[in-house]
Amino acid sequence: MKQPPSTIAVASGKGGVGKTWFAISLAHALAQTGARVLLFDADLGLANVDIQLGLMPARDLGGILAGKCDLLSACERHSGGFSILAGRSGSGDLATLGPSGWASVLRVLADAGRHFDRIVIDLGAGIDPFVRQVSAAVDQLLVVVTEEPTSLTDAYAVLKLHHQERAVSHQIAGIVINQARSRLAGERIYATLSRACTQFLRETPPLAGVIRRDDKVRDAIRRQCLLAIRHPNTQAVDDVAAIAEVIVRGLPSTA
Ligand SMILES: Nc1ncnc2c1ncn2[C@@H]1O[C@H](COP(=O)(O)OP(=O)(O)OP(=O)(O)O)[C@@H](O)[C@H]1O
Ligand SMILES: [Mg+2]
Repeated sequence: MKQPPSTIAVASGKGGVGKTWFAISLAHALAQTGARVLLFDADLGLANVDIQLGLMPARDLGGILAGKCDLLSACERHSGGFSILAGRSGSGDLATLGPSGWASVLRVLADAGRHFDRIVIDLGAGIDPFVRQVSAAVDQLLVVVTEEPTSLTDAYAVLKLHHQERAVSHQIAGIVINQARSRLAGERIYATLSRACTQFLRETPPLAGVIRRDDKVRDAIRRQCLLAIRHPNTQAVDDVAAIAEVIVRGLPSTA
């Protein structure tokens, strides 16, 4: 049997498509399986996992990099059954880290792998070198896409760069369609993207799943709650749970 991925990064290219909300919800869904899960906020520019969850972490990634605390003391336990390493820093601007700082973040990630079964990493928008390094280093990259044409083209850019780094990463990215009008509409968006990948990259990224547009998501974020706690019976919860199952089983074409 395939080993489930222990490090899972969430990227998109385009901003605002739902990466952070999905990373949080995926961490929660994976924690329901009994795994020790860490949600790692690696959006170095605009870290906001803590904001979406209404937390005020005393320690964070910046503190670890500054040598003020170690990984485990910086991780905060959430009542949803997973731990969080916040990225917001009172001790330095993570957005200005250069290559040596990025290497330090990757070392923190490797260290986290010794303490947790699954690490879900929320990345920032864009395709900067740090996003690409993390994407290449993890066991599974997930690319979040919506129906907007700019989201599709930006996701393709992420997939193309990731494809070029496949010699390093050995894994094909999975696609998460978010904010779809229906499952069928989501599958059509996936078909458009996967056709382009098959034609131009000679590689077809597998579909991890479709998450339907759900007003309850907005409500949960506004109230800084986990969706599955505030609205356990809403469709987006089922959709994320299905993706968590697919990921634990292993995406079809993951090497
Ligand atoms: N399935 C969904 N249904 C309805 N709204 C959604 C869904 N997923 C995300 N959203 C909306 O998208 C908004 C942006 O989400 P989020 O902040 O997680 O995006 P992001 O990709 O992390 O953004 P950034 O690139 O700025 O980090 C949320 O505030 C929420 O209102
Ligand atoms: Mg975000």
